[in-house]
This record gives sequence, C-alpha cells and structure tokens, in this order.
Amino acid sequence: MFSKEDNERLTRVGPGTPMGKAMRRFWIPFLMPEELSERDGTPLRVRLLGEDLIAFRDTEGRLGLLERYCPHRRVDLYFGRNEQCGLRCVYHGWKFDIKGNIVDMPAEPANSTLKDELKITAYPIVEWGGLIWAYMGDPECMPEVPPEIEWGVVPPAHRHITKRLQETNFAQGVEGGIDSSHVGILHSVLNEDTQMPFRQRQISPNLAIPYLASDTAPRFFVRHTDYGMAIGARRNATDEEYYWRITQFLAPFYTMIAPNKAGGPIMGHAWVPIDDHNCWLFTMTWNAQRPLEAHELDHGGVHAQVVPDGSYRPLINRTNDYRIDRDAQRLRSSTGIDSIGMQDTAIQESMGTIVDRSRENLGSGDAAIVGFRKSLLRMTDGLEAGQGPMSPLHPEWYRVRSVAIVLAKGVDFIEGATDQLKAISPEDMQSEVRHG
Ligand code: FES
Ligand SMILES: [Fe+2]
Repeated sequence: MFSKEDNERLTRVGPGTPMGKAMRRFWIPFLMPEELSERDGTPLRVRLLGEDLIAFRDTEGRLGLLERYCPHRRVDLYFGRNEQCGLRCVYHGWKFDIKGNIVDMPAEPANSTLKDELKITAYPIVEWGGLIWAYMGDPECMPEVPPEIEWGVVPPAHRHITKRLQETNFAQGVEGGIDSSHVGILHSVLNEDTQMPFRQRQISPNLAIPYLASDTAPRFFVRHTDYGMAIGARRNATDEEYYWRITQFLAPFYTMIAPNKAGGPIMGHAWVPIDDHNCWLFTMTWNAQRPLEAHELDHGGVHAQVVPDGSYRPLINRTNDYRIDRDAQRLRSSTGIDSIGMQDTAIQESMGTIVDRSRENLGSGDAAIVGFRKSLLRMTDGLEAGQGPMSPLHPEWYRVRSVAIVLAKGVDFIEGATDQLKAISPEDMQSEVRHG
C-alpha cells in the first residue's frame, strides 16, 4: 500500500520539499532553444519546480534565469527592459545581470552601497543536446554537465525533440512512460467486425514488432541500476528463446522505450516538473547511426501538435475531451482518440493532476511502477540522511539505451544485451556543453 504521506513525498517539488530538494541536484531541461533565441529580446516567463522565474538572453547572447519579482518592491520583471547586458526593472530602474548582480540603481544616491549588498536569485543555465537546461540547487553541488543521454549527444540532424504541456504531476507521466502493460490495450487498433468480442477484435498497434501479438501477457522484470532502472518485458519467441523489450528509467524523470526494429530510431521522454500539478513533456526521437528521415519525425503518433502561441498546449486537450470520436471508438480503436501520444496524455490527465495512490489496487503488470516509486523515495531518504543523489555527478552513467532483443532462455536480460544497451558517448561525437 502506498500511503498518502509517501504520495506527498513523491509528488511535491516546491522549494524545501524532499523531492524538490533532490530534483534541485540535477540539471533540468526546460526550454526549446527557439523560445529564447533573440539577444535583448522579450523576456520569457518561466515556472519550474514551483518557482516563478524570468529568462532572458542578454546583449552578448548569454542566458539569464532570475527570480521573477524585483527585490525592490516586487514588480514583475516580465515588464522589464532587456538592454545592454542586463534586465532593467522599469519601476525604479534597478538593473540585473545574468548572475543576479545589481548593476544599476538610478534612483539611489551615487554613494549608496545598497547595490553591493543586495542580489537577485539567479540560476545557471547551459545549452546542450538541443535543449536549454537550468540548475536550481546548491552551487557547491552543481554537476559540471547535464546527464549524457544519447539524444543529447547525437548530432542535431539525428534527433527530433518536441515539447508539450501535460496537466499532471511529473510522476504520473513517468509512470505512464514505463507502464508497458497498457500498450496492447490502450493503443490497440480494432478489427471493424463489431460482431466479434472486443478481445478478439484487438490488433496490436504495431504489427512490425514480432511476438507482440503472439504473447500478449509478458512477464516484467525490474533491475535497479545506478542511473535508475532497467525494465525487461519478456515474451515467448521460440521453444529455446525469449523476446525481450527493455525500457529504461533514468532519474529523475527520463524514460526510453525500445525501438520497433534493430537499427531503427529510439524514442524517449522527459517529464519536467513545472509545479506539483503540471509538467513539460519533452518527446525525443533519435538515431545514433544516421540522420532521421522525414517520415520518422512522427507528428501524428507520439509527438503531439500544439497550439502555436508559445503555450505548448496540445491541440487535442482536456477542454475538448481530447476530441474523442465515439464512432471511431466503437469501430476502430480502444479510445477513439487520435494519436498514441495524446491517448497517453488523456488517460494520465483523467486521473486528476495528482492521483491518490493510496486508493489504487496494483497487479503484477505494475512491477515497474512500484520500482520507480521506491527508487525516487530512496533518493529523497538518502538526501535527508546526508547522502545526496550520485547520478547527477556521474553524467556518464546515462550512456544507456533501450533495446528489443531475442535471447536464449536462461540468459539474464541485462547480461545478454550488454553491448546493445550501450549508448554512444560525447567523446565519440565531440558534443560540447555551452555555458550561460
Ligand atoms: S520595484 Fe523594481 S526597481 Fe523598484
Ligand atoms: Fe502509451
């Protein structure tokens, strides 16, 4: 049983909360580069880990992320003037640089020392891997670079990243991402013969995947690792072999799902907490070996289309009931909702923004969900006992992949897939982190 107290610990991310403190030990991806491309351009309102912030690109092209409200009399710096290497509050003219120093106070006497005594909260930012990242924790614990996840390491033409708003807590998203047992149900396509019972009408959403249709009740195996967790879903293949699909969970909120065919693109997600009730869902498609082809960008499937107004709200969303089509649901699909990605978001949002985990009844297909909760709660317990999470300090631990592989029965799935689970490294790719 998952207690209400544990549910609070798992889901609350604001300053001072156990999970909020643990999250603040990691670099957090939060913006697409195009959101903040212009020097001295419009500042951007940001909400991250429950804090209200303002982001801007200064005259030199450097990025700043400051507390949203002016330390003088709390004016919203969104209305500030982005000029000559700083953001100026337009009320009394206090001006802040990207490091949080106050560089001008025009309404104070020239000999005032107030300028040197005060600062505004400022968080370091880096650009890497096709995203903009922030570090919001204790400066002494700051990792040098973000985790070396493969989609970040590959050249830009090898990856495709999209962003959308999901109106749930981050943990609810991760739990959907590692929940392999829903795939053949939620996402199933139906044979249109309505005379047949539902179970016989179900067609696997992806017939390209061998053995998915022939064994619909896989067994799940969870292996805790130094970066998070590897989840093996085992299906019967032949008399001597099993078909394994290995999904990765990488702390604190990344997932990777197995490719449909060897050498094909891999997909991953990041559920980044905006606050307790909302998260940014970044979806990644990448291929380490070659650039992606146009048909692999997949906007209708797992990447969702969003309202083009900077809100990143999906076109299909809660307010229009995800455009559920009841005829399509009767005839052609489990849900009647268009696109796999929005089917996931719809059911995750339908639970409410923070599901009451004390009222669930878990089954054997939920082993990965239980493993995820344990691993994150262990991280918060460790931090409270004085042992901060180690994974942010070891970006190289994140050099792993998800895989699909046929192995002889009796072979351990991690040992059998050791080579296939290895991702490329930044040294292979000469990928560099750009600071500030
Ligand atoms: S409120 Fe910002 S300078 Fe006075
Ligand atoms: Fe799904």
